[in-house]
Amino acid sequence: MKRNVLEYNTMRKKVSDQSLFEKEVEEKIGRNDVCWCGSGKKYKKCHCDMDVRLDDYRNKGVLVPARRIIKNAVQIEGIRESAKINIEILDYIDAHIKTGITTQEIDDWVCAITKKHHAIAATLNYEGYPKSVCTSINNVVCHGIPSKETVLQEGDIINVDASTIYQGYFSDSSRMYCIGTVSAEKKRLVDIARTSLEVGLEYVQPWRKIGDMGAAIHEFAIENGYSVVREIGGHGVGLAFHEDPWVSYVCPKDTGMLLVPGMIFTIEPMINMGKEEIYISDEDGWTVYTEDGLPSAQWEIQVLVTEDGYEILSY
Ligand code: MF3
Ligand code: CO
Repeated sequence: MKRNVLEYNTMRKKVSDQSLFEKEVEEKIGRNDVCWCGSGKKYKKCHCDMDVRLDDYRNKGVLVPARRIIKNAVQIEGIRESAKINIEILDYIDAHIKTGITTQEIDDWVCAITKKHHAIAATLNYEGYPKSVCTSINNVVCHGIPSKETVLQEGDIINVDASTIYQGYFSDSSRMYCIGTVSAEKKRLVDIARTSLEVGLEYVQPWRKIGDMGAAIHEFAIENGYSVVREIGGHGVGLAFHEDPWVSYVCPKDTGMLLVPGMIFTIEPMINMGKEEIYISDEDGWTVYTEDGLPSAQWEIQVLVTEDGYEILSY
């Protein structure tokens, strides 16, 4: 059964509709006052120059980030710690996933590792999502729900998407796993989806627009004979699960939000072997399938924009 994807994706979009063309009510600060970012430094020695530059872009009609999504050093360190747990989860899955296990067992592993670190799985109870991880097999694009009934078969490709909250800081990343020997066709899809992240990363640079990254990924996927899901994208992340900006991988160059140091977001394009169209299960309200039934692959990394490029936090 099918349902409108746009309606479903409002959970991602709603964090992004707070357009930043309008200058927010952001307090004016004197050069010798303490910076708004929480660093404790004087404004003139911290974000003052950046703000002047941002004002300039804003006046030219460029979408610029609000202060609330620019992280300071303490917050970045907290997010790094959260990301370490997320990486440990995905590494554990890498070492233990195999033919014959159920996706519920993967959920159990995620719960156990999360608990060991006194962390919380960000998906559990998120907008009613019932599990601690998403497990999306073959023609499932994303948001597959772990189940005792779903047994991994030789030849499956599966995306496991983990997201962790640790001391209030959020991390989010996902990987593809090949179960036993998979067909050359599926293997290529998985590899291209992964390589597309590297292609996109080259464009993650401060003072460049995020659409350059998205456009590069789109172009690369198309060149390789695949399509990219439009309706579901990436997102800012760190102090909340889904923050601005909304991150598309089907967009023109030189569009979208301007990147500046301290921004953190996910790159998580969903690459389809066949057509781009998707639909959502009416039965569970979550599972996203390809319309044509062909496989889909997705890798997700969480990146920080630095002074001279990027740092991958969770992968
Ligand atoms: N990690 C996914 C994301 O990128 C998970 C969505 S979680 C769900 O945001 F709970 F909405 F399924
Ligand atoms: Co995500």
